[in-house]
Amino acid sequence: MPSLPSTTVRHHPTLDALSQAVAQDLTTDIQQTVPSQDRYTLALAGGSTPQRLYELLAEEAAGPLPWAQIHLFWGDERFVPHDHPKSNVRMVAHALTSHVPIPDANIHPIPTQPARPEAAAVAYTETLQDYFSDRSATFDTVLLGLGADGHTASLFPETDTPEGRRTDDAWVRVVNAPPRHNVSTRLTCTLPTLNGARRAAFLVAGERKRDSLAAVLNQNDSRLPAAQIKPRESLLWYVDDAAHPSSA
Ligand code: 6PG
Repeated sequence: MPSLPSTTVRHHPTLDALSQAVAQDLTTDIQQTVPSQDRYTLALAGGSTPQRLYELLAEEAAGPLPWAQIHLFWGDERFVPHDHPKSNVRMVAHALTSHVPIPDANIHPIPTQPARPEAAAVAYTETLQDYFSDRSATFDTVLLGLGADGHTASLFPETDTPEGRRTDDAWVRVVNAPPRHNVSTRLTCTLPTLNGARRAAFLVAGERKRDSLAAVLNQNDSRLPAAQIKPRESLLWYVDDAAHPSSA
C-alpha cells in the first residue's frame, strides 16, 4: 500500500499572493532538484488561475531558473488548435514560454493536430513514456486547478468514476467534458499518471471554488477526482481567502 503524501494547505489573501508563493516554492524545488538529476519535469495546469504564476516564472520573480534543464508537459488540453483562444498551450505561450530561453525540445504540448483525439492520446502516451519508464513515477511537480464541480485536469465527476479508475491502465485518454464546459473534447493525463508525480500543487482562488474545495479538503469525497490526487511525496494546496472554507 503506497504511503500517503504529506498534505499542506497554505492560505493567501489574494491570487497574486498565492501565485508568488507557488513561484517561490517551485523555484526552490527546481533549484534544489536540477543539480542532482540534471532535469526537472513540470506538468502545467490549464484554465485561468495559473496564468499569474506562469508570468512570475517568466520574470524569474522568485529567482533564476535553469530553463535548459526544465521540461514542460501539460496535465490536460482542449482538443483545439494550439493557436485557438481556448488552448492551454496558447495560454502558456502568452504567459511563459514565449518569454524565456527554454529550448523548443523541452516543451511537450499535447498534440491536437491529429484528425482523431484518440491518435493524440496515443502520441502523448509515447511522449510521456520517452521520459518516464513507469506510470508510477512521472513528473517532479504537477500543477493543478480545481473546478467548482470538483474536477481537476480534465477528470470530471461524470467521466472519472471510482469504477473506471480501478481499470484505467491508460496514461492519457480522451474525455468528453460535460456540457457546462466550454470545450467538449479534451485530452487528459489519467489519475495514475498524475499521481505518479513527486509533488502535486493545487492553485485555488475565488469564491466559486469554496464548496468544492471544502468537499475535497474536509470530506475527501471519493466521487470528486480532485480528492483522488495523491502524489508520491507532497500534496500542496495554495488557496486564497475567497476560496477557503474557514472564511465561509
Ligand atoms: C483546464 C484545466 C482545468 C482547470 C479548472 C480550473 O484545461 O481548464 O485543466 O482543470 O484547472 O477548470 O479552471 P480555472 O483556473 O479557470 O478556474
